[in-house]
Amino acid sequence: MSLKLRKLSHGLGAEICDINIAAPMSESAFGEIHRAFLDNGVLLFRNQNITREQHIEFSRRFGELDDHAAFPSDRHPQYPQLMLVTNEPQPDGTPSVSRYTGRRWHTDMSHTLEPSLGSLLRCWKIPGVGGDTMFANMTLAYEALSPGMQKLISKLHAIHFSGGRKLDNTIADQAHAAEQKRLSPPLAHPVVRVHPETGRKAIYLGEKVKRFDGMSEAESQPLIEYLNNHATKPEFVYRHQWHENDILLWDNRCTMHIALADFDQNERRHMERTTVMGTPSGYVVAIA
Ligand code: SIN
Repeated sequence: MSLKLRKLSHGLGAEICDINIAAPMSESAFGEIHRAFLDNGVLLFRNQNITREQHIEFSRRFGELDDHAAFPSDRHPQYPQLMLVTNEPQPDGTPSVSRYTGRRWHTDMSHTLEPSLGSLLRCWKIPGVGGDTMFANMTLAYEALSPGMQKLISKLHAIHFSGGRKLDNTIADQAHAAEQKRLSPPLAHPVVRVHPETGRKAIYLGEKVKRFDGMSEAESQPLIEYLNNHATKPEFVYRHQWHENDILLWDNRCTMHIALADFDQNERRHMERTTVMGTPSGYVVAIA
């Protein structure tokens, strides 16, 4: 198989055109997709009108899947390998706890000791306008830093807090936040991580990070803000406008992303995500 690739932006991303990811696929054909994944950071597969089982099966080719035990209330009731990102109300009519998922720059599962390798998000329902997702290429962002800054941040570990998610003051949201806090104590990861497959260095940060280990919030914030702003400059970013049945695959080891609130919240947006587990990283931080 020879893949037909179309670049999505200068900074990252490619569409793999004319492909059905649910069709039988040889190891060598999958190898080409895997190569494209490593080269582009984000891959788009359009028109994937496939079943949930097929979504899960294709995702498994990239590695072991998370059962989302760290997000019990966000799991699909029948498929623990699928995490819901939806503003569809729950069966009892209460708002979905995942309606604000991803509204800050982050990489998936950075609040765990096995942060994700990659995620595959499938779009089931999208509002008339907006509901976009943006991605930043953290390898390019790292490589654009001065040698002095690269050296400085290579020594730092950042503390990632769970529950970086926007919340309302409802009882359900507050209970959800408390549960997340209990399930996921704060963890520290290196600010510069080496991609285990490409060997390239990337910034590993985002808006779940409030401070560096061994430093106060006030001391850490200016540098965190600088690095997050630097990494999300237009030249490092791709903004995805969803179509139904798009599947977007991203590499959590060298990109970060944000789900935008740029749509009418009365309209439905429903996504389902598989999360491929990554390699162990980081340590638990005792916080007084
Ligand atoms: C996520 O952060 O995994 C969800 C992104 C999105 O809903 O666009």
